[in-house]
Amino acid sequence: MQESFDTTTVEFDEDTGVGRVTLNRPDALNALSGQLREDIVESLRLLEEQNDDEIALRVVVVSGAAGNFCAGADITEFEDASPGGSPERTHYQFIMDFPVPVIAKIEGYCLGGGLETAMACDFRFADEDARLGLPEVDLGIIPGAGGVQYISELAGPAAAKEIAMTGDHISATRADELGIVNRVPDDLDEATQKFAEKIASKPPLAIQTIKNSARISTQTSLKEGIDYDNKVFEPLLATEDHKEGARAFAEDDYEPEFKGR
Ligand code: COA
Repeated sequence: MQESFDTTTVEFDEDTGVGRVTLNRPDALNALSGQLREDIVESLRLLEEQNDDEIALRVVVVSGAAGNFCAGADITEFEDASPGGSPERTHYQFIMDFPVPVIAKIEGYCLGGGLETAMACDFRFADEDARLGLPEVDLGIIPGAGGVQYISELAGPAAAKEIAMTGDHISATRADELGIVNRVPDDLDEATQKFAEKIASKPPLAIQTIKNSARISTQTSLKEGIDYDNKVFEPLLATEDHKEGARAFAEDDYEPEFKGR
């Protein structure tokens, strides 16, 4: 499947279960206009609808057209809206709540709301020439969609303050050292595709449960988080996918096929 909205393109590969959303406003370095925010949500909704018994969406890769991920909120629309948009419509929240993992594939500039979008994703793979930052301070504001919070969570408050207070662009390597990105591979396309396919081949219910569990871990005490995991572990034992995985383990040369049931 291949579709286009005004400012995004969407693809879905039925064979691998990998969906792709590409931010497509290259003339503005894919800056987040109101339209682009809406199109990201609509693109993800469209991908979510691709699920049926045989064809299933398993993972989404979000990237930017023409060599840049996203240069942040569209400054020309700044008077009109808060950087996060209205709470029920934010694409950030939509990505965090999305039922399958979302990978940000980052090339070129990844600034402000662009970095916040990437940090709302489950994984970040970055090109070695990517530049990441939170430049809002130079506009007399702060990253309004959680930039300081995300970096505090991923890399600690000292890193968050350094990046948000200086507004400096940091290299992908530095972001990797800080834990803000997962990987800075030699071949970004190949590594992202391989990783997406690996996640896509895993049992979907277990993957979704892990996504939720990791999110819960940032919101609760360790004890509450472990209690949560204990509770959601049990139903997975009753899934067809658990039986399939156990069978594949027991039998040599048998590749499991997980159905999300
Ligand atoms: N909003 C709207 N338009 C943007 C934009 C943004 N956040 N970032 C870049 N653009 C536009 C530029 O206005 C320019 O448009 P033009 O060709 O019609 O003049 C085009 O994208 C290319 O940007 P330009 O600044 O010419 O490229 P550059 O390579 O010299 O610099 C950046 C790139 C990313 C360093 C620079 O564009 C920049 O600092 N952008 C703003 C980043 C920012 O502050 N984001 C957070 C906003 S809260």
